[in-house]
Amino acid sequence: MDTVIQSSTEKPALLKVLSGEVCHPPPIWLMRQAGRYLPEYLEVRADAGSFLELCYNPELAAQVTLQPIIRFGFDAAILFSDILVIPDALGQKVSFVQNEGPVLDPLKDFEAVKSLRREGFLEHLAPVFETVKLVRSGLDPNVALIGFCGAPWTVATYMVGGRGSPDQAAARGFAYQDPDGFQYLIDLLVEVSVEYLLAQLNAGAQVLQIFDSWAGNLPEGEFARWCLKPAKQIVSGVRAKAPDVPIIGFPRGVGPLYPVYAKETGVNAVSCDTSLPLKFIKNQLQHHVAVQGNLDPLLLVSGGAALETRIDEILHELGDGPLIFNLGHGIVPQTPIKHVEQLIARVRG
Ligand code: CP3
Repeated sequence: MDTVIQSSTEKPALLKVLSGEVCHPPPIWLMRQAGRYLPEYLEVRADAGSFLELCYNPELAAQVTLQPIIRFGFDAAILFSDILVIPDALGQKVSFVQNEGPVLDPLKDFEAVKSLRREGFLEHLAPVFETVKLVRSGLDPNVALIGFCGAPWTVATYMVGGRGSPDQAAARGFAYQDPDGFQYLIDLLVEVSVEYLLAQLNAGAQVLQIFDSWAGNLPEGEFARWCLKPAKQIVSGVRAKAPDVPIIGFPRGVGPLYPVYAKETGVNAVSCDTSLPLKFIKNQLQHHVAVQGNLDPLLLVSGGAALETRIDEILHELGDGPLIFNLGHGIVPQTPIKHVEQLIARVRG
């Protein structure tokens, strides 16, 4: 076998770690790695019209997905899209307002939930699957392609609240006042998320991540009902058709409930938020699943010696087990590019 074929058939490091192997150096990618800290992203974004138009334009979305791979050589690309294309595809009006974030027509009651349209859901998202195909064909075989969806709870917080909020009060209130109506919404989101993820896999995604960014505000009973159970249903729904697909779960902010999530959902890896202590990750999580994380995105903004020290601590504590180096949450727009370069050099050095 010549060297070209060997390298093209080698398994990407991300997939090795997700099957439990240890890689030195660990694979690295960053949540929100395609985004506003990159001048080349801002250029394409300006040409695309609105943010949603960018998500539904396969050529431009593929270009933006590949930008951080071309610039930094990350070990994985993540599909450029957003978790809120799901409500958009269900017929709820979604827009992204500059400096404000997503704005939706809030679902005020069960009547509004029942008016969501299931028909044409996958057809509406066809451009996203086209993006996956284009990215996969433009990507080196050693770089893994990650598809994703928002977890039902996190997506529901935007659908019910109409926008982001620090405490997700609207969705929590809805769930307390009308648990059956809220269950209907969560069940619908589980069902369409499974379809959406399977279509991403069919188009060429190799790994899936489920983002539950707002799981951290739920009391334990609500955590079990609105975060744990839907994640478990999505994992088993996807695995019924694609038994071997590696899945990463991100129940951000759930602290001591992380191990329960890791064990009961059946994910291959958990993405650890910034607040989780490294010893806890090592002893309570990494013995059972691969771990991803958990550098503070704001430390990547500050840079300097503190950044290097923390990178070394993460590598020292977690580097001898299955580790995917990442941030504890998404990269922020004010991140200097040279700090990202410094991070990658340190992790690979
Ligand atoms: O590079 C990647 O990670 C892939 C693309 C991606 C985006 N959003 C692009 C995006 C992914 C995986 C997401 C996930 C997402 N979207 C989450 C879960 C992860 C997390 O960060 O907690 C959530 C909660 C959303 C919803 C969302 N989308 C919000 C709250 C906002 C506004 C806040 C912000 O950062 O501006 C967005 C907009 C958004 N999604 C941008 C990008 C690059 C910025 C929009 C712009 O370019 O104007």
